[in-house]
Amino acid sequence: MPAAPVILAIESSCDETAAAICDGHGTILASVISTQIAEHQPYGGVVPELASRNHMTRLQPVVAATLAEANLDLSAIDGFAATSGPGLASSLLVGSTAAKAMALACNRPFLAINHLEGHLLSPFIGLPDGIQPGIALIVSGGHTLLLLLNKDGSSRLLGTTRDDAAGEAFDKAGKMLGLPYPGGPAIEKTARSGNPKAFAFPRSMLDSGDYAFSFSGLKTSLLYLLPQLGDSLRDRLPDLCASFQEAIVDVLVTKSLRAAREFNAPSISLSGGVSCNRRLREVFTDRARRARRSFIPATGTHTTDNAAMIAFAALQRFRRGESSPLDADIDPNLKLASA
Ligand code: KG4
Ligand code: ZN
Repeated sequence: MPAAPVILAIESSCDETAAAICDGHGTILASVISTQIAEHQPYGGVVPELASRNHMTRLQPVVAATLAEANLDLSAIDGFAATSGPGLASSLLVGSTAAKAMALACNRPFLAINHLEGHLLSPFIGLPDGIQPGIALIVSGGHTLLLLLNKDGSSRLLGTTRDDAAGEAFDKAGKMLGLPYPGGPAIEKTARSGNPKAFAFPRSMLDSGDYAFSFSGLKTSLLYLLPQLGDSLRDRLPDLCASFQEAIVDVLVTKSLRAAREFNAPSISLSGGVSCNRRLREVFTDRARRARRSFIPATGTHTTDNAAMIAFAALQRFRRGESSPLDADIDPNLKLASA
């Protein structure tokens, strides 16, 4: 028998159809992710209508597979959660409606969860000490957020991006360079054989004196550089990718460590799709060690979109006696509440 409460969560905010179950200790009993990357690849980005229709057909088999993986049936679930935003409206509706229907049918509470809260807490899944207070960096396709995280999971926003998110910058650069979607993993792979110092890309807002980010200037400088390279572009691709990646990594790590110093934070956690970038993790690990801070990155399938992080975030709320009404709306522009 798993420890109560057992939570089943659904994530369908973008192009991943996912379900997961966690127990009362925060242990993930099952997590299934059905990615739609291949369906959206021909269009060079996520097509909202295609995404929601794929969620419709995939969700039931994904939930069934999750229950089977955990060796549980619906009667064992104490609460049903779903991502309620931010994300694509029509995609959010599919997961949210399914979780509400199960909650209604099983007479159990429903919990509407902020996708960003899921990412924020994802580095602490499975850690014996649970959530650690400190600086938190969320870097995904839609967001770049630097926060001060409290032990109870609440947070205060220190800074965000003024234009493109870090993952968006990777994706747009990937498109410009003719690499497959999504650009982040493709740029990382190409960068492996390149020299990160070959091109001097700008480190926007590095010395702005606050915790804001900006990546659109970086994208523009790549755009202007490409015609100058002409036929040599193919040969210089690894150097270009390595230098572009280094500029993003440098700004993210420098500003996070600066915040850790200013707020005397003992640790820095890292989450969101971009957190699986190996160069980012390498530089964070090295510079956090030198600054005597612990570095807590999300791991494995908890980096890119997944439902385990939604289940884990829902568990914290369930423990506090919280639940959401069955007529709760989704919100494509949902923000993180600031503590
Ligand atoms: O968290 P996520 O799955 O979805 C959002 O909530 O946005 O993040 C997806 C983003 C995409 O922009 C993708 O290019 C980026 O994460 N990403 C990476 C890597 N893997 C995924 N960026 C850089 N390096 C990677 N290895
Ligand atoms: Zn995400």
